[in-house]
Amino acid sequence: MTREPIVLITGANGEVGHGLIKYLSQQAHVPEIVAFDLKPLDEALRPLVKRYLVGDILDNALLESLHQDYEIDTIYHLAALLSTSAEKFPELAHNVNVQGTVQLLHMAMREGKSRQKAVKFIYPSSIAVYGLPDLQTKAQAGAVAENDYLFPTTMYGCNKLYTEHLGRYYTNHYQQLSDMPSVGLDFRCLRFPGLISAFTVPSGGTSDYAPEMIHAAAKGEAYTCFVREDTAIPFMAMPDGIQALIQLAEAPRETLNSQVYNVTGFSATAAEIATLVQAEFPNAQISYEASAGRQGIVDTWAADVDDSRARKDWHWRPAYDIQRTFADYLFPNIRERYTETML
Ligand code: SER
Repeated sequence: MTREPIVLITGANGEVGHGLIKYLSQQAHVPEIVAFDLKPLDEALRPLVKRYLVGDILDNALLESLHQDYEIDTIYHLAALLSTSAEKFPELAHNVNVQGTVQLLHMAMREGKSRQKAVKFIYPSSIAVYGLPDLQTKAQAGAVAENDYLFPTTMYGCNKLYTEHLGRYYTNHYQQLSDMPSVGLDFRCLRFPGLISAFTVPSGGTSDYAPEMIHAAAKGEAYTCFVREDTAIPFMAMPDGIQALIQLAEAPRETLNSQVYNVTGFSATAAEIATLVQAEFPNAQISYEASAGRQGIVDTWAADVDDSRARKDWHWRPAYDIQRTFADYLFPNIRERYTETML
């Protein structure tokens, strides 16, 4: 039986999955999509995929059946518990974020071996891998490069940092003592800042205060921000997040000098975001009540990241700076979304 080529997307029902499925399904040169998630795929996305599977990333038999049924060209492994959820359920987070990723990496290597061509494994990591020791260091550090301050204080950050290393290990060093080293994997990883979508609200993340603030204002709801006004981290508009994944996936292998790349759109404080939101929605009610735990996490994340490595190797440039993110992407789409739902 010939196996049909596909692109596999795990965590397909999440924020990034939504944007990625919409984009990839329009690309003639991309094989059809098989979507995988714990929950049934949103109805609006179903016509855009070849098949959607409801299942657990820890279910090895299901992963093996995917390998048997399809020729898997590229995997976008988006399934994960985000940082706040992972602090609430650390052992579960370890299982899903680490063990689930290991099982998928192994399946990808079996797939690569059987078709004698490395499977592209596109993996979103996070600013949560950074752990700056105090606010003074954070203020002085400027844009942090990939190898600096790698002392995550969250389970999620530890999971992401370790799995970055595993992807690099399995791609470059697996079976290094054997006469026939493995060629099954082509692991490529982005470190995302806080992503902001006009169409979905995240759940379980610690950078969620920014999208929550924006969506609450559009809905006419008061919002209490769980970090201080001066809290700064990098962010990115979702269309840039999708483009970054695609550009990394499509970059010729020989141009990539690393397996792990920072990317960012813009850095902003919570107060800067609130000012933009209040200019657009003058009735927005935004107050601040720093939650000790979540504030502590965001305080360890870099205020800005250095993405020059991505700019150099695969010509990364965000299309959305802070002004364009709000004026051209967020506000028009969010207004339309909530006007429609309120009609
Ligand atoms: N948005 C993620 C989180 O807050 C960080 O990558 O967990």
